[in-house]
Amino acid sequence: MALANRKIGYDEVVTRDIHFEMTEQTVARHWFNGDPWTTHWMNGILAAVPDGERWVMNSARRQLDKLDDPGVKKAAIEFIRQERIHAREHDVMNAIATKHGVPIDKVEGIFKKIRVQMQKRLSDDMQSSIAAAFEHMTATIASVLLEHPEVFEETSPELKAMLYWHFVEETEHKSVSFDVFVDSSGGGLRGYLLRTGGMAAATVLGIPLMLGNHFYLLYADGQLTNWRSAARMSKTLFVSPGILTGVLKTYLPYYSPTFHPWDDDNREIIRVWKREYDRTGDTAKAFEALRKHAASKNSHGAKYSAKKSRSGSRAEVSAPV
Ligand SMILES: [Fe+2]
Ligand SMILES: [Fe+2]
Repeated sequence: MALANRKIGYDEVVTRDIHFEMTEQTVARHWFNGDPWTTHWMNGILAAVPDGERWVMNSARRQLDKLDDPGVKKAAIEFIRQERIHAREHDVMNAIATKHGVPIDKVEGIFKKIRVQMQKRLSDDMQSSIAAAFEHMTATIASVLLEHPEVFEETSPELKAMLYWHFVEETEHKSVSFDVFVDSSGGGLRGYLLRTGGMAAATVLGIPLMLGNHFYLLYADGQLTNWRSAARMSKTLFVSPGILTGVLKTYLPYYSPTFHPWDDDNREIIRVWKREYDRTGDTAKAFEALRKHAASKNSHGAKYSAKKSRSGSRAEVSAPV
């Protein structure tokens, strides 16, 4: 089945086998800017990452023989390699959070039980569809954070280097699960219904898990009534930069019959990271290059908005550089 833009970026999916310096110092108890609510919101998601990554790898692996397109097959193999290393590094991060007394292991255990049931009860095509839906959500969160590295201002450089390596690779392979699903399911009306059904299932599963994990971790950390932190997190998720608002904006388009993950082509930002990484082999320097790029882009954007609101007319405003 032909999709016009399905192969965008396939040659850029590259496995980088990196071990990051993660310790109890570099992964602080409240590693997301020293803020408990935002940290535990993300911990609740990251708890599912190692097992979730292994499950999406496995679901792609089970479809390999059904793939007609050698390009999709090659990208799927590279995707499996990338996810294997992501799972390994997030195992390290989650183990450190558990050492801090944050019960990530318990939250991960709940996800594992659900994943075992999904593997027992769902067809390979349905698992592949749910995997594509989760990969879309992950890529959307990554795309907002790639544009706004300033949200991690007080996070340790070592942890930022690891997180941004992961965000870059999630973006590189953001269409692979989707294309594996479309190619292996055969597309058409059945493929469309399975794909949208997979997103609906991922939503029904993902939202209660995200909320339940978040409140459980806050409770276990004695932070449930830290309203100042709750307000700070709400601003990050819904206003500036609006991580969840970004996810909501890309949620409904997924149900369009013509949707493809590369409808939003955001390779410019990851290429900044990749150029610096290829030049220096250093993920911290690559993060710094990306941070500077985003800062200059965001300040142009802010100047543009200010000028626009002063002039009150779009026609009088020059475009951002
Ligand atoms: Fe990943
Ligand atoms: Fe991924």
